[in-house]
Amino acid sequence: MPDKPSLFLCMGSACHQLGVYEVLPQVQALLLENGLQEKVELKGGFCMGPCEQGIVMKFEGNLFTRISPSNIRTKFEREILPALNAKVLG
Ligand code: FES
Repeated sequence: MPDKPSLFLCMGSACHQLGVYEVLPQVQALLLENGLQEKVELKGGFCMGPCEQGIVMKFEGNLFTRISPSNIRTKFEREILPALNAKVLG
């Protein structure tokens, strides 16, 4: 069984200031809602570079930027979920 792919949420200081701790529980809930909590590993990451475009998430080399506590659901459904499904469903 290959390792689960990792979905990273930036925990660097810029993203922290933008409210990453309000985004984290929402991402956990979204993974659960979409049946992905067993298939994808959610991990905190260090600064991913584009701090001015925070909050930043990363999956398999794709960066997802301009995430906020108020738009994470939309961003997840439109951008992140398709990338996760493409990987998980093969
Ligand atoms: S602190 Fe998040 S990208 Fe730099």
